[in-house]
Amino acid sequence: MEFEKKILCIGAGYVGGPTMAVIALMCPQYKVTVVDINPTRIAEWNSDHLPIFEPGLDEIVKKTRDRNLFFSTDIAKGIRENDIIFVSVNTPTKEFGIGAGQAADLQYWEKTARQILEFSESAKIVVEKSTLPVKTAEAMERILSSTNNGIKFDVVSNPEFLAEGTAIADLVDPDRVLIGSRETANGLQARDELVEIYANWVPGERIITTNVWSGELSKLVANAFLAQRVSSINAISALCEKTDADISEVAMAVGMDSRIGDKFLNASVGFGGSCFKKDILNLVYLCQHYGLHEVADYWESVVKINEYQQERFILNMLGTMFNTLSGKRIALFGFAFKANTGDTRESPAIFIAKRLLEEKAELVITDPKALKNAMSDLQDARGNVNYTADPYEAAAGCHAIAIVTEWDLYRNLDFEKIYRAMAKPAFIFDGRNILEHKRLFEMGFNVFPVGKPSLKHF
Ligand code: UDX
Ligand code: UDX
Repeated sequence: MEFEKKILCIGAGYVGGPTMAVIALMCPQYKVTVVDINPTRIAEWNSDHLPIFEPGLDEIVKKTRDRNLFFSTDIAKGIRENDIIFVSVNTPTKEFGIGAGQAADLQYWEKTARQILEFSESAKIVVEKSTLPVKTAEAMERILSSTNNGIKFDVVSNPEFLAEGTAIADLVDPDRVLIGSRETANGLQARDELVEIYANWVPGERIITTNVWSGELSKLVANAFLAQRVSSINAISALCEKTDADISEVAMAVGMDSRIGDKFLNASVGFGGSCFKKDILNLVYLCQHYGLHEVADYWESVVKINEYQQERFILNMLGTMFNTLSGKRIALFGFAFKANTGDTRESPAIFIAKRLLEEKAELVITDPKALKNAMSDLQDARGNVNYTADPYEAAAGCHAIAIVTEWDLYRNLDFEKIYRAMAKPAFIFDGRNILEHKRLFEMGFNVFPVGKPSLKHF
């Protein structure tokens, strides 16, 4: 069959994999190929055990793979044979040199640009899918035009707003698709090519077009605003704990103002994930670069409050459990950075586990999807750590349970049974406010939610 468009994605990660699977599903008339330098990852994408867990993803891949969705390690062939190239390689925080700890590390990005230049034999539209510092497209264009090979490259910004755990729903029914392009004839033509792809399933009014710099910056700003909401509610949760106000009631009252809205107002143990911290630090670095130090400080405080919230959670556990955790067994319920994913990147669980081990607590970690990643995150941590997928087994003999991830399954456990099997006094620290605190208290637990009065028997 002749395909109408041939699309390549470089980077088969949490962004590239699901995004391309949904394009392949929605556009059977296009051929979609995903390439990656990591052969294990590609082999997993081609197997029954996909490298990432995302609700609904397995079914889509089963339906489209080898029909119009292909996974391969042959990057050169992919570049040669496709006209539209999405790039979703990782852009972690730079760990060395100038900008270390803040700026985005663009080495994979640049390497990819050079590969595109090397292997291209015809015109390409290069699509920035990864989250990038504003002005990256300019650097990309410079690299792509560094030889006089006569090939035309157009760089377009098309940031991805999917959230893990709801990636498929976010892709199938996005709030908006953003396409930033140069306002030249070629730029606008490239933009229209991309609009055409999304128009297969996204209503026209939700496909918005901007200039390329607005496209790049909007993605950073969207993540910064979302993280800022979490830090705002978490900051207020600290005040609630001092004043006997209840953060859920405050969030409800505040969120019913339609100008504010009720989403992203769940107080928690802190935000995690591969994007929020990285993107805010990237924004901070950009502001500093342009001499906007007050603006940089403002956004940096979002990350500082997040660190404060995680530390507060630990200090609360320590203080409550009579200022010593040494030799006490503590079960961490959840290790993923949020529910419905196995991803643990920047998960507050990593920080919490390490701090508890420093206090010489013994840990039992349970999570339905993230145990493999948890083991790898804690492989260098010293101390006594056990892993089990069974929350009942995890809690048995423990002095405390800390809810770190808001998995639904934790809401419906038999806590009477759990209580009987725990050491007494038994503590629950609900870092996600998902449990029925009063009921647990009546069973005998001492209950410590986030931003709400604690319920204790002593
Ligand atoms: C990544 C970035 O982290 C994020 O900033 C951006 O918004 C989208 O891309 P994610 O998909 O979650 O997000 O990253 P990851 O799961 O690490 O996937 C990146 C993939 O790119 C990896 O599979 C890696 O092997 C691959 N890669 C990396 C290449 O194929 N070539 C490279 O040169 C570098
Ligand atoms: C985020 C953005 O939502 C998405 O648009 C972007 O493309 C990538 O970054 P993601 O990191 O996958 O997505 O998950 P998200 O749902 O935003 O949650 C991020 C963190 O904030 C999680 O640790 C989550 O538990 C926490 N969070 C979120 C809260 O603590 N409280 C809330 O009310 C909402």
